[in-house]
Amino acid sequence: GEGLFTYDPGFVSTAACESKITYIDGDKGILLHRGYPIEQLAEHSTYLETCFLLIYGELPLQSELREFEEIIRKHTMVHEQLRNFFNGFRRDAHPMAVMCGVVGALSAFYHDSLDISNERHREIAAFRLISKMPTLAAMSYKYSKGQPFVYPRNSLDYSANFLHMLFGTPCEEAEVNPIIARAMDRIFLLHADHEQNASTSTVRLAGSSGANPFACIAAGIAALWGPAHGGANEAVLNMLQEIGDEKNIDKYIARAKDKDDPFRLMGFGHRVYKNFDPRAKVMKQTCDEVLNELGLEDDPLFKIAKRLEKIALEDEYFVEKKLYPNVDFYSGIILKAIGIPTEMFTVIFATGRTPGWIAHWHEMISGPYRIGRPRQLYTGSDIRDYVAVNQRS
Ligand code: SDX
Repeated sequence: GEGLFTYDPGFVSTAACESKITYIDGDKGILLHRGYPIEQLAEHSTYLETCFLLIYGELPLQSELREFEEIIRKHTMVHEQLRNFFNGFRRDAHPMAVMCGVVGALSAFYHDSLDISNERHREIAAFRLISKMPTLAAMSYKYSKGQPFVYPRNSLDYSANFLHMLFGTPCEEAEVNPIIARAMDRIFLLHADHEQNASTSTVRLAGSSGANPFACIAAGIAALWGPAHGGANEAVLNMLQEIGDEKNIDKYIARAKDKDDPFRLMGFGHRVYKNFDPRAKVMKQTCDEVLNELGLEDDPLFKIAKRLEKIALEDEYFVEKKLYPNVDFYSGIILKAIGIPTEMFTVIFATGRTPGWIAHWHEMISGPYRIGRPRQLYTGSDIRDYVAVNQRS
């Protein structure tokens, strides 16, 4: 149609797939989930309500939301034998390595949600993944700390329950600050979906072969791990710690501009956004709320981040190349302030992105589809005959 959704014919011919889930306009900094602006969802919705919207396409009625929340709450525990699976990992294994393994392993436990041709199986798989990702994420954290797993508490809402499983112990309850729980919920919400990014495209490609939903989500987790994608939030904190002092910022800005230096300013730039990432604006506001709530607004690390952001936004290289802070720049700062270690940041991104992966997977396999087969431009050798090893020079 005209206006917001006008595509030039050249783009239409190159588009990888059609989808009704998320719309991004990188030049205008617009992000819509099923037509609803991300800013409005972040302000008025909750993560679970946004999960429902992404998967079913409409905001739930009061009764639908209550039922959905109850179903998710009732599936937060994992099969008790899955606990043994963690014991195969070294304690210092990266939590993303654990999540790749454990989420894929769900295929071995939940046989009532593997038949992708069965609508009910698909729906149960979606419920299980949304409800169990926080539990598995918290378990990967506890395992790395050598602490006992903490069972989910169904009396808590989704994000508070996650913080309870992360920071509670059998000896004492975690005191969950409602402002921090709301910030956690907003972090999950802002990561919920983002059109055809690398990990979502991976999930769709895996799904197009008919692989079961748990295997597809495990593939998405693996793709998300890279520092250019979901690993960026961890890379942002590592970068801030490496910069160490505001006086070193100019040196790193210069490195980021040096073509011969592979260093990139983590948390800046985007494949699509050539304007402020609309999620980053909300994440920045949440970041200020959390730092104020925790009295960390003067913390040296966060002051470096604020100054780096200011310099980059005024630097002509970044302005000319339209490199703005992205969602990962601020999320890492919030998670660090909450007390979550950097190696858990991408696990939290994966947890938040689960409904988006599920929605795209479900959209693709619930209609007619064919196995994905990206085409290539061959630039290798012309045809030639085999040469025996003793004839080669
Ligand atoms: C996510 O796809 C998604 O939607 C992803 C995501 C999602 O929700 O799923 O939004 C989540 O992955 C956000 C991005 C997180 N990654 C980072 O913060 C890592 C740092 N950013 C860069 O690695 C980079 O910006 C990318 C990978 C995000 C994008 O890389 P591109 O496609 O090469 O960026 P571009 O084409 O816009 O780059 C334009 C120019 C290039 O220079 P030239 O080749 O034109 O000379 O800017 C340079 C780039 O080299 N550039 C940077 C830079 N990012 C791009 N220079 C310095 N620092 C940077 N951060």
